[in-house]
Amino acid sequence: LGASMIAICCTAASAAGLTVGFSQIGSESGWRAAETSVTKQEAEKRGITLKFADAQQKQENQIKAIRGFIAQGVNAILVAPVVATGWEQVLGEAKDAKIPVILLDRGIDASKDLYLTSVASDQVKEGSVAGDWLVKTVGDKPCRVVELQGTVGSTPAINRKKGFEEAIAGHKNISIARSQTGDFTRSKGKEVMEGFLKAENGGKNICAMYAHNDDMAVGAIQAIKDAGLKPGKDILVVSIDAVPDIFQAMAAGEANATVELTPNMAGPAFDALDAYLKSGKQPEKFIITQSKLYTPADDPKGEYERRKGLGY
Ligand code: AHR
Repeated sequence: LGASMIAICCTAASAAGLTVGFSQIGSESGWRAAETSVTKQEAEKRGITLKFADAQQKQENQIKAIRGFIAQGVNAILVAPVVATGWEQVLGEAKDAKIPVILLDRGIDASKDLYLTSVASDQVKEGSVAGDWLVKTVGDKPCRVVELQGTVGSTPAINRKKGFEEAIAGHKNISIARSQTGDFTRSKGKEVMEGFLKAENGGKNICAMYAHNDDMAVGAIQAIKDAGLKPGKDILVVSIDAVPDIFQAMAAGEANATVELTPNMAGPAFDALDAYLKSGKQPEKFIITQSKLYTPADDPKGEYERRKGLGY
């Protein structure tokens, strides 16, 4: 009886009837595409009408979309902010219109009063989980790392860099030799890695590649192979997201570690919104998702299959 009561309570579509606007960044990565599809599924499951706007990586498009949602009088707005700055004005307009805003997966540099809650990972921790893995893996061996950063000015790029640097600080054998943005895309990851390989004696001087997301890592893996080296062996590969393609690379021995970022930010966001609308009680300001490390010891083939079934 207990279990069935819980099932009734927690699957009830109590946010049913709401109209929610979702300003998504774009579709730069496999993770982003998964977040979009999971958000749509979560809305449908709860009887929420989701108005979706793809900003194609441009903050100005996100601002336009948010203004459009306000004009339409939506009940709430979800926004995955492409960069951290420049949100005060438009979120102030949403606040004046009494429309709660929930941030998904990235943060902003603005007053916390401008949003109801933020559902995201601890991005500094993600970087430090990746860095700790590398520290443990290389031991005392000298290790020159190349870093592929995410979108300039985005919180995951800023924080994942910081966390990784903190983890390797104090380990004098490990240093970041080169660091450049790959904009979270596979094609840019490949292109930037090609440059790193050329500049580093055809890659022979590189011990590890740290990418702020798996898509850039997958692009970089291709560049490493094209340069005649073995990714995962000649150059260690560590990244963040845990999307199916990185598990495929892991199963092939071409990637060494990834830190999971759940694409289901919308589930906790809709739960918080629902509770807020029912009780008026402010939810936690930051709802933090987990950052679990996966390595080839964690059944990469199984993880690949499992994720394929989850909307990736
Ligand atoms: O904000 C989350 C990051 O954005 C993901 O790690 C990356 O894949 C995406 O583009």
